Amino acid sequence: MFPELPDWELQALADDIKAKGLLHPIVLYKGKILDGRNRYKACKLAGVQPRFTEWKGKGSPLEWVVSENLVRRHLTSSQRAVLALDLLPLLEKEAARRQTLAKKLAKVGDNGKGKASQVAAKLTKTNSAYIEAVKHISKHAPELLGKVRSGVIKIPDATRLAKLPDKERKQVVAMLDGQPVSGSELHELSKRVHQNLRNRAAKAFARKATASSKDNNILIGSMDLLWDRLDDDSVDLFLTDPPYKDIQLYESLAELAAAKLKPGRLCLAYSGQFYLPEVMEAMSQHLVYWWTFAIEFSGSHCAIHPRHVQNKWKPIIAFAKPRAKPAPEWLSDHLQGGGRDKEYHDWGQDESEVEYLINHLTQPGELVVEPFCGGGTIPLVCRSTGRRWLATEIERSVALIARKRLAEAGKLR
Ligand SMILES: C[S@@+](CC[C@H](N)C(=O)[O-])C[C@H]1O[C@@H](n2cnc3c(N)ncnc32)[C@H](O)[C@@H]1O
Repeated sequence: MFPELPDWELQALADDIKAKGLLHPIVLYKGKILDGRNRYKACKLAGVQPRFTEWKGKGSPLEWVVSENLVRRHLTSSQRAVLALDLLPLLEKEAARRQTLAKKLAKVGDNGKGKASQVAAKLTKTNSAYIEAVKHISKHAPELLGKVRSGVIKIPDATRLAKLPDKERKQVVAMLDGQPVSGSELHELSKRVHQNLRNRAAKAFARKATASSKDNNILIGSMDLLWDRLDDDSVDLFLTDPPYKDIQLYESLAELAAAKLKPGRLCLAYSGQFYLPEVMEAMSQHLVYWWTFAIEFSGSHCAIHPRHVQNKWKPIIAFAKPRAKPAPEWLSDHLQGGGRDKEYHDWGQDESEVEYLINHLTQPGELVVEPFCGGGTIPLVCRSTGRRWLATEIERSVALIARKRLAEAGKLR
């Protein structure tokens, strides 16, 4: 039940016993070792004759051995929760045998669900939510339990890891070297593994892709490619998500859109709140300001420490090629976002807000251009809503991921 000591600790205990003798006798119950399995092994290693004593306590021997060990060992709540899971079958057995514990179980509740967990939580001084989490982990990712038991990761991190696809999780676990890791270190590690697998899968896709599924209208290279690829006055909508800090790119975008948009049509760009004045100024060099859409974050908000502001929305700014005109149909400027989707790109946007804007600002068959494609969210929505699209992405590995994403979405239709 309690973790066996690693070899080096067992040797240290053996050396100690050799030098000072066995301070605490090994406790037996009905002829079996109840407490002191590691001490017994260390005695054998040290060549010292072990001393035994019979347990004469009252009540549950299991409860006694748990509380003894908890006093002796410094276990985190996460480690205690794994211990509680180990205890559950023993508790259930003992409960069936012993009147007192059976009563205790009955007191905690008799809906048949979770009562042993609650007793185990009490005994191990952890909480029942952690024990439920450990149960879930033991079912879906049992290889993580050893890492929690040995204190390498904590329950909340193990719960997050358990949600990863098998291959990804196993790679992360293989990279843990036995030292405790913090939640943020684990997050970084998982991110690296995810990116690595994603890039490898995209490259494999590119090697196998047929000519027709190859480019998915996603060009590999700078947005400047679009100057020659697009006719003037031919585009119905620019919808894009440039790297926020690069103000020059916003100006280049506006310049391109001013040439390629049909008159009166819009260029929409995500922007970071901090950069809004510069971005507005840069885009105003070539287009006219039209409106700002607020995309409300789903779930938690973001604390902006330099301003002490709880940020709950992100802007998409809209500029028009003169002469500005009303949208083809009424639409809202306050949208509920679906949250970032990091599956295909670290800065991936959510499909839902993109879909709303494309549906309200263009007709099926019209052309949408996305110069900063990333993981391909905007082309993907164009495909699903029956719009034509053309995109560029400067990073080859990123473009391949987007192409693969679109090809797979095509297969599902
Ligand atoms: C914010 S990300 C786009 C994320 C995308 N909206 C998604 O949902 O996955 C911006 C992308 O623009 C690309 N990029 C940066 N400069 C570029 C340029 N000059 N031409 C084309 N792509 C560029 C970056 O490599 C990055 O992948």
